[in-house]
Amino acid sequence: MPSQSQTKGVQWSSRWIFILAAIGSAIGLGNIWKFPYITGENGGAAFVLVYLICISIVGIPIMIGELLVGRRGRHNPADSYQAVAIESKRSPHWRWAGFIAVASGFLILSFYSVIASWALEYTFLAARGTFTDQSAAEVGNIFSQLLSSPKTMIFWNTLMLGGTVLVIARGVKKGLEKAIQYLLPAMLILLLILVGYSIGEGAFSQGFEFLFSPDFSKLSAEGILVALGHAFFTLSLAMGCIMMYGAYLPKRVSIFRSACIIAIVDTAIALLAGLAIFPVVFANGLPVASGPGLLFQTLPIAFGQMPFGTFFATLFFAMVVFAAFTSTLSLLEPTVAWVVEHKAVSRVKAALISGIILWSLGLASILSFNHWSEITIFGKTFFDFFDYITANLTLPLGGLAVALFVGWFVQQRYLQEELGVGNGKCFHLWYCVLRYITPIAILLVFFSALGII
Ligand code: PHE
Repeated sequence: MPSQSQTKGVQWSSRWIFILAAIGSAIGLGNIWKFPYITGENGGAAFVLVYLICISIVGIPIMIGELLVGRRGRHNPADSYQAVAIESKRSPHWRWAGFIAVASGFLILSFYSVIASWALEYTFLAARGTFTDQSAAEVGNIFSQLLSSPKTMIFWNTLMLGGTVLVIARGVKKGLEKAIQYLLPAMLILLLILVGYSIGEGAFSQGFEFLFSPDFSKLSAEGILVALGHAFFTLSLAMGCIMMYGAYLPKRVSIFRSACIIAIVDTAIALLAGLAIFPVVFANGLPVASGPGLLFQTLPIAFGQMPFGTFFATLFFAMVVFAAFTSTLSLLEPTVAWVVEHKAVSRVKAALISGIILWSLGLASILSFNHWSEITIFGKTFFDFFDYITANLTLPLGGLAVALFVGWFVQQRYLQEELGVGNGKCFHLWYCVLRYITPIAILLVFFSALGII
């Protein structure tokens, strides 16, 4: 049993700070790095449309479920699951679903911070004018050099994790709230400046058309599954983060409304990131489908050729760092809350120990790009393996657990009580989607990832 003292009683200072924190968690590398490149790889607007449908039928219903369990349980995700299960006279072993979510969030953080730290290195490279007038080959070289230098990556990753530990150690009000209050607006302003730049200097109409005028012949079955998987990732679902933030949510805040706002803003930011990136890519005749390298290998070429490119490239990568940082905070919080509640240690100690373990795990990811590139588990390097099991295994299963638990195991009257929307249409629409449509959609992704369908 957790001690009652730590998580219980801590609440966000206001509804808005919670919304900002959850938006900060949701917006991250998923929006700025991943969404544009998977959109590029999957043909553009038709993919975007499917992604929007996935956000609506899987993302929002699960987010509502997570917030609900978090607020009802008022603990770290494992103990929230357990408390809510016991209240509905269900097995306390449901806590394992929460435990796995926390553990996979922790594992994700170990390599997420590595990618974020590339952006940190790129911010400094950009500021030094490294990309100015460089050819595609030279820019590619800069990226390969980074990947082959464990020292550089370790340095930036230490900073990234150190910052995360520092903020989380200070607690919800003094750490998380303070950091998010400044970082998120700064990130939004940077993004708007960049979209403005892209309207002025890029091939804006071409970029716009790519994102918004669908051509369904370009959409593959796999694209649909990628969209579904990304809906989880981008909304920070199935990793205990949103559930954890729900545990700090004041009673009077509407969960329905909050979930919709978070999902809408997250989607809008992903689209804005697309609008900032694609016009620049098109204006420079670069390939849209260049995969994960889009952000680190393609964009710097474009920035290098533009007027004021050094300035805008620096802004751009700084924005990526801010966006990723508000996500790393949310990835660490559930683990720290769990440790504090179970191991009777202080928050500072819990954050520090978690940071050291993350740093060591991160080392395995960093080395898998160079010295350890030959060491594989099931044919994958450490980095790929961590990414693979979280994206394809624990994420869909964690999402499924939320949908099944809330949809089938928690008593309906508790759901209605917590959501505060009575027995109306809104409740039934959500309940029906969560019980039937969401689990089926998730199973589809899961089996296809395993290659079964
Ligand atoms: N949602 C974040 C993004 O889009 C990633 C993330 C996943 C953050 C899970 C927290 C938890 O980058």
